[in-house]
Amino acid sequence: MAATVVVDAEYMKEIERARRKLRALISSKNCAPIMLRLAWHDAGTYDAKTKTGGPNGSIRNELELKHDANSGLKIAVDLCEEIKAKHPKISYADLYQLAGVVAVEVTGGPTIDFVPGRKDAIVSPEEGRLPDAKQGASHLRDVFYRMGLSDQDIVALSGGHTLGKAHRERSGFDGPWTKEPLQFDNSYFLELLKGDSKGFLKLPTDKVLVEDPEFRQFVEIYAKDEEAFFRDYAASHKKLSELGFTPPTHCFKLPVKNCGALAQTTFGVAVAATVAIFSYFYEINRRVK
Ligand code: HEM
Repeated sequence: MAATVVVDAEYMKEIERARRKLRALISSKNCAPIMLRLAWHDAGTYDAKTKTGGPNGSIRNELELKHDANSGLKIAVDLCEEIKAKHPKISYADLYQLAGVVAVEVTGGPTIDFVPGRKDAIVSPEEGRLPDAKQGASHLRDVFYRMGLSDQDIVALSGGHTLGKAHRERSGFDGPWTKEPLQFDNSYFLELLKGDSKGFLKLPTDKVLVEDPEFRQFVEIYAKDEEAFFRDYAASHKKLSELGFTPPTHCFKLPVKNCGALAQTTFGVAVAATVAIFSYFYEINRRVK
């Protein structure tokens, strides 16, 4: 059961207001990593066959928050509650995904297209849908393929570990993956290719990305080419954030500034067409004379 979200002009305005507040909150509290983890864990329960789970805000349910994989995420849910209190119209599902998008943006990562309109679910999926960090490549594939994602998505999205760190009391693992855990860049892949180095964490599921030849080809590309990583990450993150979500057809997709750009483009095309038509008739007229 899910409540409908009406994405009208007022909803879009609220999204933009919430986006600005999230930018300020995430920067002032240095909480980008846990906000990104929240967005991923809400979305990453999706099952493409049964069309259950996914980015539907169900992670706020006490029962789901208590799943082992979600240890520590109450902090992020509570931080989002501050924004929800000021913008109650926005669904939790949209809010958590918006927080993930903003977390990547404010730490220097790529801009990720955000389309609002997700409905909130009341029911949570059963425990065990998120990946287990102690397992290997076939487990990673089982989990991500179940969502409808690919090998390339697995590698690009794992690049999210460029942010943050593991906490012994939450997951049993400890330490950051990179030297600058509040900076979104391709250093996660550079560290992966260096192998074990003191002070940096590599989960078994990180290590398989260099051991498995299908995964490794993407690791090598992203280590060499940060732009390629940003481009692919933004595309995979968008997919993750929209699993099982069909944007409403009446959604106001274009922010005002883009509408302006479109208007300029349309205007430009119209002017060019008019000039072409006048030139054509001028030429015909000239030849007839
Ligand atoms: C590929 C399978 C993945 C596994 C097995 C995994 C596992 C983990 C574990 C064990 C932690 C440590 C939690 C803690 O102790 O606080 C963690 C943290 C984190 N994960 Fe993942 N993760 C995976 C994929 C992803 C993806 C796809 C993203 C985002 C796109 C992501 C983003 C993060 C972030 C940002 C943190 C740091 C959180 C913080 O600093 O509080 N992870 N992950």
